[in-house]
Amino acid sequence: MSVSGIGDQGSGIGDFDRATEAAEWLRGHGCGGADVAVVLGSGLGDFADHLGDSFTIQYSDLPHWPAARVIGHAGKLVGGTLRGKQVLALSGRVHAYEGHDMKTVTFAMRAIGRLGVPRVILTNAAGGISPNCSRGALMVIDDHINLMGDNPLVGPNDDRFGLRFPDMSLVYSPRLRAIADEVANEQGAPIQHGVYVAVLGPSYETPAEIRAFRTLGADAVGMSTAPEAIVARHMGMEVLGISCITNAAAGVFPEPLHHEEVMETARQVKGQFIALLEGIIGRL
Ligand code: HPA
Repeated sequence: MSVSGIGDQGSGIGDFDRATEAAEWLRGHGCGGADVAVVLGSGLGDFADHLGDSFTIQYSDLPHWPAARVIGHAGKLVGGTLRGKQVLALSGRVHAYEGHDMKTVTFAMRAIGRLGVPRVILTNAAGGISPNCSRGALMVIDDHINLMGDNPLVGPNDDRFGLRFPDMSLVYSPRLRAIADEVANEQGAPIQHGVYVAVLGPSYETPAEIRAFRTLGADAVGMSTAPEAIVARHMGMEVLGISCITNAAAGVFPEPLHHEEVMETARQVKGQFIALLEGIIGRL
């Protein structure tokens, strides 16, 4: 059971109306017509400083919007321009491990979808499982395995969002993945590709779990992204996922895992990460 949902979930208004109200609020504050939304993972929020003509909206000012509370997640939406594109940067996300239900975790995606934003770039910090996903690598998500034990589409389906049984054979857009490759090649900054396994957290995994995930075909592990990707696809948005491999997953090396290492690696990689994002957005 969740300890908190969206604050007014008992008020009788449904997810669709809540998302629409938030979208209308955003439209009235200059966010209509965005080409792309970028969800910034742990320690990756600095990307928002690179937007031109930018404006900031605190999540707390947005109707129905849940607050981001994890260290490294600012809790603000920054709008602006980059390489001729209109960008909405979501600096901070809410996670299921905070006790939020999946509808709350994916509310921002619903609102962005209702705003009519055609595509989203989901970024995260992740632990590297496969040898090519070593600390500091950037990994384009080719596919995910949802082991969170929940799915944001559970419950009555609102057909205005999308189908009851949406196809998930191509969650992560081949077109956007190819653009990421082109940009990385041009920049001479190699990127990896792989499968992201999403877990609930907040404890890091045991070495036995990581061995199991490796056997399942996972290359990186994290505590976000899959629910947002599912909801974005449910609404027909194009999705790109990029993991910043901030640490070797549990048991790969004998050292214990710390959130500080995650933040430190994200800080070290952010230059390459921001350049990659800028290049991708320039080509959309
Ligand atoms: N496991 C789960 N989530 C993570 C990790 C990890 O090793 N690193 C960053 N997010």
